[in-house]
Amino acid sequence: MSYALVTGASKGIGKAIAEELAKQKFNLILVARSEKLLQETANHFKQTYNIDVVYVVKDLSHPTAPEELAKWIADNNLPLSVLVNNAGYALWGRFDEQPLNDQVDMLHVNVECMVKLTHLLLPLLKKQQQAYILNIASTTAYQAIPTLSVYAACKSFVILFSRALRYEFKDTNISVTCISPGTTSTNFMNRAGMTSEKMIKQAEKVTMAPEEVAKCAVSKMLKKKNEVIPGLINRVSVAMTYFVPKALTEKIAAGIYKN
Ligand SMILES: NC(=O)c1ccc[n+]([C@@H]2O[C@H](COP(=O)([O-])OP(=O)(O)OC[C@H]3O[C@@H](n4cnc5c(N)ncnc54)[C@H](OP(=O)(O)O)[C@@H]3O)[C@@H](O)[C@H]2O)c1
Repeated sequence: MSYALVTGASKGIGKAIAEELAKQKFNLILVARSEKLLQETANHFKQTYNIDVVYVVKDLSHPTAPEELAKWIADNNLPLSVLVNNAGYALWGRFDEQPLNDQVDMLHVNVECMVKLTHLLLPLLKKQQQAYILNIASTTAYQAIPTLSVYAACKSFVILFSRALRYEFKDTNISVTCISPGTTSTNFMNRAGMTSEKMIKQAEKVTMAPEEVAKCAVSKMLKKKNEVIPGLINRVSVAMTYFVPKALTEKIAAGIYKN
């Protein structure tokens, strides 16, 4: 069986997606920074699903990380049929109050790494009879969000990039799917600095489990779906952004993401 590469596979949605792929008997290449978590995850998946699992410890905010990762895969002759661009995070706060370097690092992980890995790994994906690219966007992508300005814009990029690629590859062996989860119970809010009691309580009302999101993501990817939003509440809230004036959605979003 061929390999699936999952970035950000040490925890959260990425780990859950890797497990769904393991259930489908894909071998796995797991990537993240936390070596111990990757090692534990790899051992667990190997034993439970009887597949090959390798892991690469890499900080994807380094501009050369995608090239190093792609070279490692080519050097090891791993037949790759799935690329999951999942690694990502948000930084919450006013744009002028967030250090510029932190925001640029986030752009490297959320956008640049996805573009580079996709370009560098397409030659390997083209060699397979059937290959898949699964990109993780977010419901935040569907409107501008004050206090998540760069993050929400990154995720809009992910959706538009995925749709264009999907069209370009429509008559080939490569299917491109983009999934936009809403609030999901992972380390995401903590990492973003969204730790106020108000935000946590609000999130609890609409949150989905990462396993639920992953199940939907992998099943839709294998069915070659285009743009997927897991969860009815998330689909309704995104649908509203098409009918409500932009200025109003921004005001509502600003209220939701206020501390
Ligand atoms: N949770 C939500 O509410 C939500 C909603 C919509 C979209 N998403 C998207 O879903 C994706 C996964 O997020 P999550 O919710 O699962 O968050 P998470 O639990 O914080 O997991 C993030 C993953 O990305 C990895 N990562 C972060 N920075 C990295 C770096 N510099 N280099 C390499 N790996 C890095 C982390 O691994 P290490 O820390 O070990 O490096 C971890 O495996 C992200 O793209 C996020 O934007 C999340």
